[in-house]
Amino acid sequence: MIRAVHPGDLDDLVALEAAGAAHPWTSAGIRDVLEGRFGCGWVAGQTHPVGHLLGQVVLDEAEIHTVVVHPDHRRQGLGRALVTHALRAWREAGITAVHLEVRDDNVGAIALYAGLGFEPVGRRRAYYGDCDALLMRCAP
Ligand SMILES: CC(C)(COP(=O)(O)OP(=O)(O)OC[C@H]1O[C@@H](n2cnc3c(N)ncnc32)[C@H](O)[C@@H]1OP(=O)(O)O)[C@@H](O)C(=O)NCCC(=O)NCCS
Repeated sequence: MIRAVHPGDLDDLVALEAAGAAHPWTSAGIRDVLEGRFGCGWVAGQTHPVGHLLGQVVLDEAEIHTVVVHPDHRRQGLGRALVTHALRAWREAGITAVHLEVRDDNVGAIALYAGLGFEPVGRRRAYYGDCDALLMRCAP
């Protein structure tokens, strides 16, 4: 099941970031997304969130900030389902471009995004200190 995030998800999302992200979003950063004017996101899970996607929409462009699936629930299609859900929602909302940044060595995430139509459009050298950021974009 995938549903839109709401402010009451904050603690679950902080825990998911800590459990699964290489560069976890802070509680304050997640709260800004949940409560901010431009933030949006979805969670996956039956009883409680085991994955989430957070992003923002400004005018007719969207950005994916983070996609995380709990390590115990990976390779079951949840990451693909979250990104697919976001792309469909953004397409229906008239979004024309979706952007993201991902560690250049994150083979799994890059495969996930490429499989859904994202293409590499640039790179930020040493953005993560030990690793470049690959910039990807797609038309939803
Ligand atoms: C990246 C991530 C969100 C994928 O979630 P997931 O639910 O395991 O992914 P899915 O099961 O939907 O996989 C969809 C496709 O992505 C690719 N993929 C996912 N994980 C992969 C891995 N470890 N190695 C290679 N390809 C992988 C595959 O093409 C896969 O399709 P397949 O299973 O048919 O081969 C998850 O690994 C994660 O939370 N990683 C840590 C956080 C992160 O790196 N987020 C992305 C950066 S913003």
